[in-house]
Amino acid sequence: MWEKNSIKEVLYSEEDIRKRAGELGRQITEDYKNSGKPLLLVALLRGSVPFLGELIRCIDMDIQYDFMDVSSYAGTKSTGDIRIIKDLDTSVKGLDILLVEDIVDTGRTIAEVVKTLKHKGAESVRIVTLLDKPSRRTTDIYADYIGFTVPDAFVVGFGMDYDQKFRCLPYIGVLKDEVYSNEE
Ligand code: IMP
Ligand code: MG
Repeated sequence: MWEKNSIKEVLYSEEDIRKRAGELGRQITEDYKNSGKPLLLVALLRGSVPFLGELIRCIDMDIQYDFMDVSSYAGTKSTGDIRIIKDLDTSVKGLDILLVEDIVDTGRTIAEVVKTLKHKGAESVRIVTLLDKPSRRTTDIYADYIGFTVPDAFVVGFGMDYDQKFRCLPYIGVLKDEVYSNEE
């Protein structure tokens, strides 16, 4: 297989991810089904797309979803630390929001997005992330729903990339060190 020379270790198989997404979907359904308000899932492009796909199959409510694309680098139109590349098409005023992330690392991206959504009048904002890397956290933000907690290693697959590569792998794996050094 083409990727075998680049992946050091498989952390979570396709089956592991499906199973965990199912558990999270059922938990989310339990938590929101009696709220009486619409639930809007806001997925951050591009890494969270495969996870969103798994998750929405397992949420047993009439939810809606929309997308945002943000860059963590401050630019000319920066909102705090992030630049909004694609904003939501949906108004968040009065809605319960569930932010969908691939991985929370330092937490800076998600912290800024939460701030932005609250500023725009969201009723509540919670976070679901496929992976959490708490050892790298520099903010005091934590996800409400976590797929798996991972050690401090660079992971790819199931939406997550290195230089736009490896997003399409059906599993999550750790990248071999030489993949980085070869790029230099
Ligand atoms: P944060 O703002 O530091 O929490 O960064 C979060 C974003 O960085 C994630 O949404 C990913 O796009 C990217 N990221 C962080 N760690 C990894 C990793 O191990 N593999 C791939 N992408 C990562
Ligand atoms: Mg991301």
